[in-house]
Amino acid sequence: MAMSIRELLLQGLNSDPKYIDVSCRYDEQGSKYDEECTNVESYYYYKAEEEIVRTFAAVGLSNLEMPFKLFELGCGSTKKSQIIIDKILRHESTLEYGLNDLSADFLEKVCEDLSAIYGSRLKVDTLAGDFMTVFPKIRNYRGRKVLLWLGGLHCFPLNIQPELLLNIASTLQDSKPISKLYKNGVHVLNRELKSTIDLSKFELEGRYVENKDVSSASYIQVWLRSLVEQTYVLENVGKTVTFGRGEKLLLYGGNGLSHKYTFEQLEHLFASVGLQIVNQWDNGHSALTMVKRKS
Ligand SMILES: C[S@@+](CC[C@H](N)C(=O)[O-])C[C@H]1O[C@@H](n2cnc3c(N)ncnc32)[C@H](O)[C@@H]1O
Repeated sequence: MAMSIRELLLQGLNSDPKYIDVSCRYDEQGSKYDEECTNVESYYYYKAEEEIVRTFAAVGLSNLEMPFKLFELGCGSTKKSQIIIDKILRHESTLEYGLNDLSADFLEKVCEDLSAIYGSRLKVDTLAGDFMTVFPKIRNYRGRKVLLWLGGLHCFPLNIQPELLLNIASTLQDSKPISKLYKNGVHVLNRELKSTIDLSKFELEGRYVENKDVSSASYIQVWLRSLVEQTYVLENVGKTVTFGRGEKLLLYGGNGLSHKYTFEQLEHLFASVGLQIVNQWDNGHSALTMVKRKS
């Protein structure tokens, strides 16, 4: 858990040598000084960072599947982030942006600036405070997310960098119950066939297949894609199974799962087995259908 600023200051003063932690300088005023530094012509470092962000926006962003929510740690004035935001908004109509920095007052001012620039196209939510305290909120965000941390890692002492990175990595962990459920078949396989299939070497992917044909239905397909070539022993049956790099392990048999029907498709399906729809109640997501034998 993050220390309060008082605890952090006292810890520094009780140490030998005494110190003031770097993060203590970023109150509202410090954040303004940081912003001023970015305008100093001789401050080559900021310009160099800005240039690399421009390169990323031009060539790196296209590697990311959109849409996603952009979270930013220690965002400062967001001048550099705006290069990335501009580029995203060239393709997307809106962008969700969760921005973090230590000073709530400074963040409020940054949000006003962002609102003046982007209006309602940028849907901002502020996460003020030490980022250690906002990791759980980022972790709990269920949609696709990208975490931005510019000019960040190098500011922290070497001995705490691994811990910070571990925390960041854990915010990107798949915490969705639905994906845990999809992947659970692998745990069952490992238990029943005595194997060690490693889920971290697979990526969960899926797609929705829309099918308007009256004798069919729409459905979902979901699979694990092997990130590397890998072979596992299935001890209980004395066999091995190999997954090629990029090979799919489907998490369903047949065409797919979680079928979605139009009324006509259901009618057709029931009619094919001599049943007739009598009534149906639906709430836009689910329906309960009453059927009887055709007379
Ligand atoms: C070197 S500045 C970089 C600002 C901006 N990201 C950029 O690249 O221009 C570091 C930023 O991290 C913020 N910061 C430092 N420690 C932090 C912490 N523990 N939690 C959240 N933000 C922090 C500071 O307030 C500051 O805005």
